[in-house]
Amino acid sequence: MKISDLTTLLQYYKSLGFSEVYTTPLHKPSLSDIKNAIQDCKRCKLHKGRTNIVFGEGNENAEIMFIGEGPGADEDQQGRPFVGKAGQLLTSLIEKLGLSRKEVYIANIVKCRPPNNRDPEPDEISACYPFLRKQIAVIRPKVIMALGKISTHTLLNIQEPIQRFSIMKARGSFYNYTDGLMSIPVMPTYHPSYLLRNREAKWDVWEDAQKMMQRIRDG
Ligand code: URA
Repeated sequence: MKISDLTTLLQYYKSLGFSEVYTTPLHKPSLSDIKNAIQDCKRCKLHKGRTNIVFGEGNENAEIMFIGEGPGADEDQQGRPFVGKAGQLLTSLIEKLGLSRKEVYIANIVKCRPPNNRDPEPDEISACYPFLRKQIAVIRPKVIMALGKISTHTLLNIQEPIQRFSIMKARGSFYNYTDGLMSIPVMPTYHPSYLLRNREAKWDVWEDAQKMMQRIRDG
C-alpha cells in the first residue's frame, strides 16, 4: 500500500472515532528487493561509463557497515566493492579486527564508477544515495565506519561545503547517522586510498577501528 493511501485510511478510521489500530507485520524489504530496483539504473550520468553496478556486499545482518565513496576500475569490472588496491587494505583491516568480509557489509555512496576516479558530483550522490539509505535501513548496523571525506560528508548530512570539510578533524570521534527514527553511530576515518599514499595514517585508522569495536562491545 502507498504511504499516501495508508495516511488517508488512518484519517478515515480516526474520523470514525478510533484512536488505535492493530496491524500485522509489514513485509520488510530485503537487499535483493533494493538491488532489483536499480537494475539498468540510468538515474544519473554515471551509468554511461559503467561496466557493472557495484551494489555492495556482505551480511544482511551485519553489525558493521563500511561505506566508501564510489567504485574504482577494479570494482567496476568485477561489480564488487573494494576489490582493488585500496580494497586489499580494507580487507586486511577487517581481518585484523578478527572479522571477515562476509560478516560485515561493504558499500559506497555511489554505485557506478565516476570517470577517472573523480569524486562523485552532488547530482550523482542525490540520485544514488536513496538506495544506500534503504540498504542501511534493512541492515540496521550497530556502527557505520565512513571511509573518507565524501562518505562522511554525505552520511552526516554536513552542510559545510565539501571543499572546506576536513576528514582529518572529523576522524576518530563518533557522530550520528539519522534517518527518520533511526540513529546509528558513525566513526569517520581516512579512506583506504589515502593510506596507499600515507602509510603512517594506518595507525589512525586502526585507532578509529578499535573505538568502533569497543562501541559494539559496549552495546
Ligand atoms: N574506493 C571506494 O570508495 N570504493 C570502492 O569500492 C573502491 C575504491
